[in-house]
Amino acid sequence: MVNYLDTDHWFDRLENDFPNLKASGLPLLFDAQTNDTTSPLYKSAFDLIATFNAEADAEVKKAQPQHDEALASAKWLQIHATNYNRVQPTDRAIGNEPRWSSNDTNDVQVLSALNQYCFRCHGTIKFSVFNKDEIRRPEFRALINQAIRSDTPLGLRMPPDRDLPDGVRNLILQFTQQP
Ligand code: HEC
Repeated sequence: MVNYLDTDHWFDRLENDFPNLKASGLPLLFDAQTNDTTSPLYKSAFDLIATFNAEADAEVKKAQPQHDEALASAKWLQIHATNYNRVQPTDRAIGNEPRWSSNDTNDVQVLSALNQYCFRCHGTIKFSVFNKDEIRRPEFRALINQAIRSDTPLGLRMPPDRDLPDGVRNLILQFTQQP
């Protein structure tokens, strides 16, 4: 399955994990030579990504139409039909209602944490953090709860690539423990 290119996620990560990269001003879309979304060069680089993403979307619709990736590529194409700017995570929610909502500050915080620490794998592997209806089900919240606890053994503990700051762990634990 071909993955669409998630430009929004790249720009999200400038705001949290990569402050030095942000400060350096290096263009995230290399061919654009700038992060200024109004520049003609940026637009033509972005248009090329949109062409690729339309093909990725057509491919996933044939290969695995039930996969969250099919919803995610369609969502990217929809929100970027005429818009070159980054769209906030809650406005990229996929799946059935209830979706993540920008009107709910807790949703904004929890999705921001899941996006930063989990999405690069859990956009595609097993589940998508952008599909709230899928991950809010009790049995799934129990899985997440177990995965992120600090006493869960290495190898099972999530994320596998780094330690969760306590504040982030508590935020996600609260989401898993909501009634
Ligand atoms: C570097 C990639 C990576 C990151 C980042 C990551 N995971 Fe995972 N996660 C995996 C893989 C791979 C599996 C499947 C492991 C297996 O089945 O052996 C998995 C499995 C899981 C499962 C079990 C799902 C199931 O259906 O059994 C949960 C729950 C989970 N991860 C939660 C999280 C959470 C929450 C985060 C962020 C705090 C996170 N993961 C971050 C790679 C990752």
